[in-house]
Amino acid sequence: MLEYREMIDTDLDIVTEAEGRSHAFPWTRGNLADSLAAGHGAWLATEDGKMIGYAILMLAVDEAHLLNITVLPEFQRRGRGSLLLNFLFDQARLKACTRILLEVRPGNVSGLGLYRRNGFAEIGRRRDYYRAQNGREDAIVMARDL
Ligand SMILES: CC(C)(COP(=O)(O)OP(=O)(O)OC[C@H]1O[C@@H](n2cnc3c(N)ncnc32)[C@H](O)[C@@H]1OP(=O)(O)O)[C@@H](O)C(=O)NCCC(=O)NCCS
Repeated sequence: MLEYREMIDTDLDIVTEAEGRSHAFPWTRGNLADSLAAGHGAWLATEDGKMIGYAILMLAVDEAHLLNITVLPEFQRRGRGSLLLNFLFDQARLKACTRILLEVRPGNVSGLGLYRRNGFAEIGRRRDYYRAQNGREDAIVMARDL
């Protein structure tokens, strides 16, 4: 069973390490620390006390913005990403958010699959949003009502 707890500064080492081996373009320790300092919602998902993933959510007045969701490679594709995402939906609803938004790289097959499977639809594109291997790449913007 997954359990959730808030991410704190002393988690930054293990999260930075996990980020580095889960993403082609990982957040740095500084990016993660800035996010905590900014007061974003940030949680670890644990199983038997061990971190299996984490997520960062920016909560605005009535909209939430998903900034990062990660399931460690060795735990992927067994439903945990969907459970973590649904936990985030509940957190956003608790803050009276009625919609959740995100950006995803067009080539991120697992991210796109997770989001489509959990009710997100594409609402637009942002040009040259991401740093890429050779220059920049667009973002797909997706949204889901809560
Ligand atoms: C995206 C991510 C969080 C999904 O976590 P997960 O635990 O593997 O997700 P789930 O097992 O709940 O999968 C849910 C659905 O997503 C889709 N999906 C997940 N991984 C997929 C893959 N590699 N290829 C195709 N579809 C995939 C499937 O539709 C899947 O449902 P199914 O297994 O019943 O077919 C995980 O792959 C990850 O951390 N990736 C690296 C980080 C990242 O890109 N995060 C998103 C952008 S911040």
